[in-house]
Amino acid sequence: MEQGLALHHIGVRFGGLTALDDVSLRVPPGRVVGVIGPNGAGKTTLFNVVCGFVPPDAGTITLDGRPLRPRPHRLTRLGIARTLQGTGLFAGLTVVENVMAGATHTARAGFLPALLGLPRSDRDERRLRQDALDVLDSLGIAGHADAAPGTLPFAVRQRVALARALAARPRLLLLDEPAGGLGGDDITELAELVRQLPRRDTDPCAVLLVEHHMDLVMSVCDEIVVLDFGRVIAAGTPDEIRDDPAVTDAYLGAAVDEAAA
Ligand SMILES: Nc1ncnc2c1ncn2[C@@H]1O[C@H](COP(=O)(O)OP(=O)(O)O)[C@@H](O)[C@H]1O
Ligand SMILES: [Mg+2]
Repeated sequence: MEQGLALHHIGVRFGGLTALDDVSLRVPPGRVVGVIGPNGAGKTTLFNVVCGFVPPDAGTITLDGRPLRPRPHRLTRLGIARTLQGTGLFAGLTVVENVMAGATHTARAGFLPALLGLPRSDRDERRLRQDALDVLDSLGIAGHADAAPGTLPFAVRQRVALARALAARPRLLLLDEPAGGLGGDDITELAELVRQLPRRDTDPCAVLLVEHHMDLVMSVCDEIVVLDFGRVIAAGTPDEIRDDPAVTDAYLGAAVDEAAA
């Protein structure tokens, strides 16, 4: 049986525009797979197809060989977590509470009853909090547990968002442009974190990374799929991709277009 997530011949059209055309890729367990491509290549559309925001017009998705029709609110139950562009944290909750909110489905009593002021056992509450602190610790930000997200630097907030996604203990993590808004050192640190995710001892998870930032993708991904105008123009290891003339052409072409615009 084929393990992990697989996209088979996915097609998406927006009116007359073909955003994705015959796109196939696999994210096996233990792997970080990157999707790159110039602006408008179809990266976000692909991410949205996997999250269930955009239903494909053609093709199928499978998880461990079984057909999957993703829906945004059912992802966690399938073992899939995502972070979105922008961190989307709850401003009224502390950092640790935000992370606890990500773990709701694993807790016996839900987080929603707690938010609504309904009783829940102290033991569940304590366990949920300890799990959240452990995740924060694994990302090096346990010291910020009781802070309000709004008071923290952007790079730390982004780690909190990552912690919230990981609190659900996903086996697949979907990241859309995680380096957006980060500077050089923060990108290097983020790269190191993401690279470790499939390889850590507790709760390892595969990663599908959609990212414009070439250096990040090259440094963390085991495999890379390159999109241009909605089609896969190259796929392989970072070394293979780096030397592929089709990729250089696509990126240089885009750079020339942008310079001319
Ligand atoms: N909801 C939409 N309606 C119409 N066109 C869209 C929509 N979303 C994306 N597109 C178009 O689909 C193409 C791929 O977009 P996108 O997936 O956002 O690319 P990327 O993330 O690689 O920059 C672009 O031409 C874009 O204009
Ligand atoms: Mg995009």
